[in-house]
Amino acid sequence: MTKEVLTQEEFLAEFNGIKEELKAYAEKKAYDFWTREDLTQSEVFTAIEQRVWLEIAYVFFLGKQINDYWKEFDRPTVTSLCKHMWEEAHHYEIICRVLEKHGYTAPTTPPEAHMGWENLHWEALQKDRACAVAVWNCSETSTTTTHDIVIENCRRIGLDDLARCYEQVKKDEEFHARLGDMIVRKYVVTDEHRANAIWGARRLREEMLHYYDTIYAVPEQTV
Ligand SMILES: [Fe+2]
Ligand SMILES: [Fe+2]
Repeated sequence: MTKEVLTQEEFLAEFNGIKEELKAYAEKKAYDFWTREDLTQSEVFTAIEQRVWLEIAYVFFLGKQINDYWKEFDRPTVTSLCKHMWEEAHHYEIICRVLEKHGYTAPTTPPEAHMGWENLHWEALQKDRACAVAVWNCSETSTTTTHDIVIENCRRIGLDDLARCYEQVKKDEEFHARLGDMIVRKYVVTDEHRANAIWGARRLREEMLHYYDTIYAVPEQTV
């Protein structure tokens, strides 16, 4: 089988299309979950226990990315990746403090349901300098449509502490999404980079649909 060759325009069109599709999907799933009249704090914390793993997972992915590839990026980009890594550690810290305050436990292993998402990042990190960035840029960008829904509904059900965490997360994630997009545009430049990046984005799309179906599962209506 001959390897698929994409022009930069074709690559960016499909890559951006995947991000737009995931943003819309995430927004719909988050809206249906978070705006339910009978949503309980316990359901919220079950979702958050899974979601917060992604914060610490990115510390590990970014550490590997920086260690393996930093010489292939310009210095301001390396510094920005370090800032990104620190902010993910900070998100994990502030959200885990809230979990513990409410009697829950900070996760220290990947949730069983999201091993596909986890393993895809490690696989992408082996490919080239920007493949994993393409993967996490689709993942992170998809969350940007959920933050306002999360913040507003945390407040609605009396979780002001969690709302404050997600106000910080929202601010930082806008920077992460822009940084990842800049890196993909600047460093995905050869046929092989584009083939790797689109492979990762397509795989991530599948993982992310599953991810939102899992964390934002809405219980069946019982009549
Ligand atoms: Fe984060
Ligand atoms: Fe992030």
